[in-house]
Formats: sequence, structure tokens, C-alpha cells
Amino acid sequence: MPWQHVRVARFGGPEVLEVAEQSTLPAPGPGEVRIKVLAAGTGFTDSFIRRGRYPGFKGPLPFTPGYELVGMVDATGSGVTSVRQGQVVADLCVVGGYAQYALRPARFLVPVPDGLDPAQAVCVPLAYLTAYQMLTRHRRLPRGATILVIGASGSVGTALLDLARWFGLNAIGTCSAANIPTVESFGATALDYRAGDFVAVVRRLTANADASGGVAAAFDAIGGGHFARSFACLAPGGLLVGYGAQQMAVGAAGWLSAALGLARLKSWDALSGLPGGRHAVFYDITARRAAHPDDFVADMATLFGLLRDQAIHPVVVDRLPLVAARAVHARIDAGGQGGKIVLLPWLVA
Ligand SMILES: NC(=O)c1ccc[n+]([C@@H]2O[C@H](COP(=O)([O-])OP(=O)(O)OC[C@H]3O[C@@H](n4cnc5c(N)ncnc54)[C@H](OP(=O)(O)O)[C@@H]3O)[C@@H](O)[C@H]2O)c1
Repeated sequence: MPWQHVRVARFGGPEVLEVAEQSTLPAPGPGEVRIKVLAAGTGFTDSFIRRGRYPGFKGPLPFTPGYELVGMVDATGSGVTSVRQGQVVADLCVVGGYAQYALRPARFLVPVPDGLDPAQAVCVPLAYLTAYQMLTRHRRLPRGATILVIGASGSVGTALLDLARWFGLNAIGTCSAANIPTVESFGATALDYRAGDFVAVVRRLTANADASGGVAAAFDAIGGGHFARSFACLAPGGLLVGYGAQQMAVGAAGWLSAALGLARLKSWDALSGLPGGRHAVFYDITARRAAHPDDFVADMATLFGLLRDQAIHPVVVDRLPLVAARAVHARIDAGGQGGKIVLLPWLVA
């Protein structure tokens, strides 16, 4: 049976994404599952991979991009007992999501409860899980604490705001001017990152909350020298979670800047025991899943429960067929989406 997927044969701009057709369905091997993909998330990390700059994936080429998918188990290989045919599952696959079918190892698949919209559910494996684990797995903040979200209008940023509201936290978020309404729609205070020095504004906004001012935690994926600005917003004892190197990914900074950013996190954390010291860590979803697979499954199940109960509200800004992948990446690269674009591989263009 012929089926389609998006193929990247060389790293580069959005033009390297092309739709290809396969004539036969691949058979799952031992421990594998063939998934009929119902929704594939798109986002900045896919663009990072497409450019050939993502440390966690350098090929082989050609490959099918797509960091996360939700789909129906279509066939199971020998030894697979954790999922059954017809079950809807989610996967953090890193690559492979932009396709009508995907072969995936069964061990990391998480069941998706009945009745969920696949496009909303596919916001969970990367964006919401990253946000949830960063908010809960390093420390639990008390209700009423204030956090700073850098890039608050993005997929992870809006997930952080959404979950912060669920946990009773106050949030301040940086974004571009056009996305201020998105950030404010989550009850957060929005700051245009192009309009001036957000550090001074954050310190002023938090001055009354704590005698010394500052936020309880900050989340920053810009990386490099930007970590120092986020760190400067912390209250004594506060926590900076770095989780990206966006400036390096888009070529606005080099590898050295990104590496120095990581080194800074380590050195700040080493000094956290001093009076008024502040903590800093780096979060990496795939490294954490490898180290703590049970947390991954438990946290995904918690988030799907919250989605089923309509306690969280993923922002899906568009639902498009595979043939739109190139245009979607051009939009991601231009920025300012204010949420996630989801590819629906069975949608007819
Ligand atoms: N470590 C991990 O495990 C992990 C997991 C998931 C994602 N990530 C990383 O997290 C980052 C965000 O991913 P995403 O999917 O949420 O991307 P996204 O949806 O494209 O969002 C990116 C956000 O960054 C904002 N932004 C760009 N330049 C900025 C600046 N100078 N200051 C403040 N904000 C700025 C954009 O704001 P405007 O659009 O309003 O301009 C947008 O809100 C990426 O670097 C990704 O690779 C890491």
C-alpha cells in the first residue's frame, strides 16, 4: 500500500523538506510497533534538526523529521505486550513524525486516553512534558511564587504558562510585541523582549513580593549569554533552568557561546551554597527520559489526564497536511507563531 512521508536528504533551509512516497508498508521487527500517525507536532527543535545544528541528531541522511507523534498502533512485532493493535499512543521520537506511518520501539510509547483530539494530544510529548518536568522534577514551587518564562509565546513557553496557572504560580513572560495577547491570555504579565532591558523590569515587578526582589525560578532556552540575564532576575535561593541554545541554533551565536552558557550554569550552581546563593541546572528531555524512564511515562500519563479534564489548554495555531511541511518550517523560522502548528498526515491538501 503506498504511503507518504516527509524526507530530508541534506541539512539546510525549509526547501530541503520534500514529500516522498513509499510503495509498501514496513513490517515491525521484534519489540517494534508500526504506528498510523494521526498527528505530528512541529516546532523549533525540528528546525534545529533540519539545519544540522542539533547536538542530539546528526543523521544518517535521508531522514524523516518530526520530534513527536500521536497515532494508532497498526501492527506489532514479536515480543510486544505493552500496547495492542488499535490503541492510540504518543511517542517522543526525535525524528520520524512527519509521516503517515512510523516504525517505533514499543518501550517508550505512552497510551493516549480515548476521546482526545490527536492535535491537542501531540502537544504533550515534547512541549508540555518539558514544561511539566522543569516545573516539578527539580523543585516544587509553593502556590503564589513567581516564575519568569523566556520565550513565553512559544510551544514550551505557553505550556509553562498554562501549567504555572494550574499550579497556582504567577508568571512573567517575555515574547515579541505581536504575541503579548497570547501570553496575557494565560494570566501572565507579558514583556516585549525587544522593548528594553527585561531584567530591570522583572526586578521592579517583583520588588514588593520579596524584600530583595526577584523570581523564584526562571526558564530560558535562548542560551549563551542570555542565561546571565535570566540568572540576574532570580531571588536569593532561586532556580534557573536552562533548556536550550536557541541563539546558536539560528546561527546568531557560535558553539563556544552555547558551551560557555552551559559552563556558567555549572559554576553558578557550584556557588549556590553561599549566602543568598542561587541554583542553576540544564534540562534535556531525552537525557532525562533515558535516565528516568518511569518518570517519563508517569508524567505523560498525568498530562494526558489533565488534558482529558480540560485543565490544560495547548495552543494549536494550525492543522495542515504533510505537503505543507516546507511552508510550516518557513513560518517556524520566521518566529512569532504564538503556539504549535500540527501536521495531520491523512489530511488531504
Ligand atoms: N532541552 C529540552 O529538553 C528542550 C525541549 C523542548 C524544546 N527545547 C528548546 O526550547 C526552545 C523553544 O522551543 P519551542 O518549541 O517552544 O519553540 P517555539 O515555539 O518556536 O518558541 C520559541 C520562542 O522563543 C521566543 N524568542 C525568540 N527569540 C527570543 C529572545 N531573544 N528573547 C525571548 N524570546 C525569544 C519566540 O518569541 P516570539 O515568537 O514571540 O518572537 C518564541 O516564543 C527551542 O530552542 C527548543 O530547541 C528544549
